[in-house]
Amino acid sequence: MTTRAVVVGVGHYLPERIVPNAEFEKSLDTTDEWIRSRSGIERRHFAAEGETTSHLAVAAAKRALDDAGLTPDHIDAIVVATSTPDLTFPSAATMVQAQLGMTRGFAFDIQAVCAGFIYALGNANALIMAGQAERVLVIGAETFSRIMDWTDRSTCVLFGDGAGAIVLEARSGTGNSDDRGILSVDLNSDGRHRDILYVDGGVSTQTVGHLRMEGREVFRHAVEKLAATSSAALEKVGLTKADVDWIVPHQANIRIIRGTAKKLEIPMEKVVVTVQDHGNTSAASIPLALSVGKQQGKIREGDLVVTEAIGGGLAWGAVALRW
Ligand code: ACO
Repeated sequence: MTTRAVVVGVGHYLPERIVPNAEFEKSLDTTDEWIRSRSGIERRHFAAEGETTSHLAVAAAKRALDDAGLTPDHIDAIVVATSTPDLTFPSAATMVQAQLGMTRGFAFDIQAVCAGFIYALGNANALIMAGQAERVLVIGAETFSRIMDWTDRSTCVLFGDGAGAIVLEARSGTGNSDDRGILSVDLNSDGRHRDILYVDGGVSTQTVGHLRMEGREVFRHAVEKLAATSSAALEKVGLTKADVDWIVPHQANIRIIRGTAKKLEIPMEKVVVTVQDHGNTSAASIPLALSVGKQQGKIREGDLVVTEAIGGGLAWGAVALRW
């Protein structure tokens, strides 16, 4: 017998304001056609003035708790993956804890940029496996619109705001790959590549800064590393691409998503794609896609899901889980 961290609830929240590509044509030398064909993005949501990452996170968390049929009292720990917290400290996670009315347990943030939700899943899984928590609320929430340089057409058209959440619960399993729950985690980073995707500000510089990216360079790393980490996650648990029901990738660019699926030799019919509607929501993109994929009736109990992401750092990784 072994302990498994099983997904028992999922939910998401998107800010009300939807911004279609055409809106950028008014202020930038760009077109809907360029954005669509280069990235697959058609629209994204932007948070309202005063609407912060913790607000989005709480809304998604409530929906995940409802989906699980649980209340905040049932939760032992909250992990929030974000690079855009409300404040430098306290953590967004403790803000979520307070807004949910939760007075017990513990809460903390994880910052691994676009790979944040994969890192959060890995950490939440470890907490459950170690017996430190029975139920963990894992949230990815971002307001990337707050770190865009609106004069930089090569970045500001690509990102959006949103949040997604899942509830993981300790269940006993047999220890083989038929078990429901997280089956394997593969995490990687290589700080030598920090210059190709970063924010040029931070606490120590007394500025918030803006996102800067060498898009072509990030692209070059993405397909290769995402395919490798997905294969590694499958290998760790003795599974192959033939066993995969759904790939749920980080939603940065449809060309990266297609390139990775091709390298893995997995047809696009088995890939959940939301990038057209959400843009790149960094750490929120995977839980958003999991939630939408379930809502659309795609991801069902017992399905083998491989979820993978890469982002600033570079940091990247994958999780294989049975839904
Ligand atoms: N509208 C019109 N033209 C533009 C725009 C725009 N919004 N942005 C850039 N261009 C121009 C460039 O200036 C360039 O012009 P030039 O050739 O005269 O210099 C031309 O378009 C081509 O630029 P490239 O960067 O070569 O375009 P590319 O086909 O590589 O697409 C993109 C750019 C979409 C950023 C792509 O490289 C990409 O998606 N990279 C991955 C980066 C990513 O998704 N990062 C997200 C964070 S990390 C992650 O989540 C994986």
